Amino acid sequence: MLIAIDGPAASGKGTLARKLAARYGLRHLDTGLTYRGVAKALLDAGLPLDDESVAEETAHGLDLGGLDRAVLSAHGIGEAASKIAVMPAVRQALVDKQRAFAVTPPGAVLDGRDIGTVVCPDADVKLYVIATAEVRAARRWREIEAGGGTADYAGILADIQRRDARDTERAASPLKPAQDAHLLDTSEMDIETAFRAASAIIDAKRIERNAN
Ligand code: C5P
Repeated sequence: MLIAIDGPAASGKGTLARKLAARYGLRHLDTGLTYRGVAKALLDAGLPLDDESVAEETAHGLDLGGLDRAVLSAHGIGEAASKIAVMPAVRQALVDKQRAFAVTPPGAVLDGRDIGTVVCPDADVKLYVIATAEVRAARRWREIEAGGGTADYAGILADIQRRDARDTERAASPLKPAQDAHLLDTSEMDIETAFRAASAIIDAKRIERNAN
């Protein structure tokens, strides 16, 4: 069983992917962390973010087992990740690693921007998770405040809109729904409601598969 989940930043796809992996006993890879891992390695080494061959070499050396979500979730790393994610050679190196993860038994849930379109075009179920930029910014804002930080809503919204533009307008594997993706608009859903809706889609697919 292979489940592909795509969508923009803060759409809720990551939380949904983790919950679905736990429910169906599948492995989970947040592919955003792979781009973030390359960006952080470059930043730590004082290397430029605009040199494709340096970034490609760093991508080849990335160990998927060593990706620490707590460290990589920093805002500045997401911004740097979206810059190196426009480079085709970086994408190819990371997509190869992501595919190797996806085909390892017992199956997996992968979330990102190009899973249903490029990384796993033959996935059993494809979900495309969206929410308005304002709803996503408000979620991020609440997350930061709940963690004891202070956040500026207008700044977060502007960041989300800038990252959306970079991800949807790039030439290499832009963010877009696969033709056979199920659209899940979570603007007016909490995570439990989104989880139930996604589970219903997956259960229907499993019944269909078992019947054939
Ligand atoms: O999902 P997350 O915000 O962690 O992703 C960071 C950046 O990595 C995204 O803005 C996007 O540019 C890039 N990315 C990508 N393809 C993926 C996952 C992430 O281009 N499959």
